[in-house]
Amino acid sequence: MDNRPIGIFDSGIGGLTVFKEIRNLLPHEDLIYFGDTARVPYGSKSVQVVRRFSAEIASFLTLQNVKMLVIACNTASALALGTLKTETSLPVIGVIDPGVRAAIKGAGEGPIGVIGTRATIASGAYQDRISRLRCNLRVVARACPLLVPVVEENLMHSDIARMALEMYLGDFKKQQVSSLILACTHYPLLKDLINEFFEGKTLLIDSARETAIEVREVLQARRINTAATQAGRETFFVSDSTEAFADIAADFLGRPVAGECFLHSWQNEP
Ligand code: DGL
Repeated sequence: MDNRPIGIFDSGIGGLTVFKEIRNLLPHEDLIYFGDTARVPYGSKSVQVVRRFSAEIASFLTLQNVKMLVIACNTASALALGTLKTETSLPVIGVIDPGVRAAIKGAGEGPIGVIGTRATIASGAYQDRISRLRCNLRVVARACPLLVPVVEENLMHSDIARMALEMYLGDFKKQQVSSLILACTHYPLLKDLINEFFEGKTLLIDSARETAIEVREVLQARRINTAATQAGRETFFVSDSTEAFADIAADFLGRPVAGECFLHSWQNEP
């Protein structure tokens, strides 16, 4: 038994989609969430920069005494999971393998679509893993860089969101994809609109639920579940824009969030 919290991070609010599933599955665990709202988006940044940001957040969460790290961000999972694993003795879980598992379960005969950030799509992480597991499944992948700012700006129900989806998803409709992987943890926040675009005919897949299941498995395998029987504590840190984060998070989680602003001068550290 281990009563320390689980650390979960993303470049912004997208990782809350994973946080929510972990909370549903593990109601007694204490959770600490970190959203790097000062430096979002990660999807347009280089491998080195995403690795450095991820390592900094992992160090911060380690100082908060977490027992495990969940990278609730596809971009950081694609670019930094391997290096983070070598830099910490804590168990580290990313969202890509759980996402691929969810996709393979739901894919049918395809073709299967993948949408994500520029960095995630360019890394080929989903395309490679899917073709290794189901080599005859055709994969159509596309980067959708405007969708993260739409979500971070709380414009999920706006005409701008609709126009961006039309621009990015038209081709998937033409190619009649049977399922679409939302390979960015921000995108499930646009699920209703994406469903509307496909008129409910395309299965939308995200990694949040599978990731939560993997977290539970790791806790059990290492015997580090909490012994607590009361509802777990939740702490949220962001690197900037606390109020905007608190508003969207409260909307999405359906309850107010206690925010703490983690103010840290990343660049000017001695
Ligand atoms: N939510 C993230 C992901 O899953 C990152 C988006 C971004 O910061 O560009 O890729």
